[in-house]
Amino acid sequence: MRLILLGAPGAGKGTQAQFICEQFKIPQISTGDMLRAAVKEGSELGLKVKEIMNSGGLVSDDLIIDLVKERISQPDCENGFLLDGFPRTIPQAEAMKDAGVKIDHVLEIAVSDEEIVSRLAGRRVHPASGRVYHVEHNPPKESGKDDVTGEALIQREDDQESTVRHRLAVYHDQTAPLVDYYQQWAKEDPQAAPEYHRVEGTGSVDEITGQVLEALKD
Ligand code: AP5
Ligand code: ZN
Repeated sequence: MRLILLGAPGAGKGTQAQFICEQFKIPQISTGDMLRAAVKEGSELGLKVKEIMNSGGLVSDDLIIDLVKERISQPDCENGFLLDGFPRTIPQAEAMKDAGVKIDHVLEIAVSDEEIVSRLAGRRVHPASGRVYHVEHNPPKESGKDDVTGEALIQREDDQESTVRHRLAVYHDQTAPLVDYYQQWAKEDPQAAPEYHRVEGTGSVDEITGQVLEALKD
């Protein structure tokens, strides 16, 4: 299965990706996680994108398209993959189409802006694995520690409220048009276009997972 998760920052893409990838035995490809790893390593790519990411802007389409094309050509993607945080602009979606990458499903997780601001203020992450927690809604077993490794959890640089508001503005401007883009394509050419599903992302993590798995059942 080849799947795109679409949704605002903090909608729960990373959270739900963990369950979907386990269920369908496909790798999670989070462009945000890949870029954060590059920043941490201090690689050439990391140096290029660090400031843009911390400010909540988008890195250039060319750079991200090359990164994803290279990643999905790896052997572990032969039986499918989940794209989390990509595409995020119309040119990124068009690049996949032009490269002949057939996607089976686009799944939108819809959450209001106000809910998002409070979610991201309480988010904690385990940087090495990308596992995501929330201090109230999805707490780790032991406060401040990753469930699997016991390593320290951190707050993301871009989760400060002013940066979150900027990321939301960027989402509405650059990424939200993909909702229409995929819905329109599915109407015009249902054979070639991915199936479009929308899930309301407000509710407990388990409830959302139930709806997500239901949507992807057939
Ligand atoms: P990226 O890492 O993709 O960030 P994002 O899209 O802003 O999404 P988030 O990771 O913030 O949210 P999420 O939807 O995964 O939510 P999560 O599951 O963590 O990108 C970061 C940056 O990289 C971008 O700003 C950009 O600079 C760059 N970038 C990446 N891809 C790019 C691209 N394609 N093009 C250009 N630039 C790119 O959940 C959030 C919180 O809510 C957690 O604490 C979680 O525990 C909690 N939560 C989850 N579900 C629920 C629930 N149902 N109820 C209550 N709380 C919940
Ligand atoms: Zn994420």
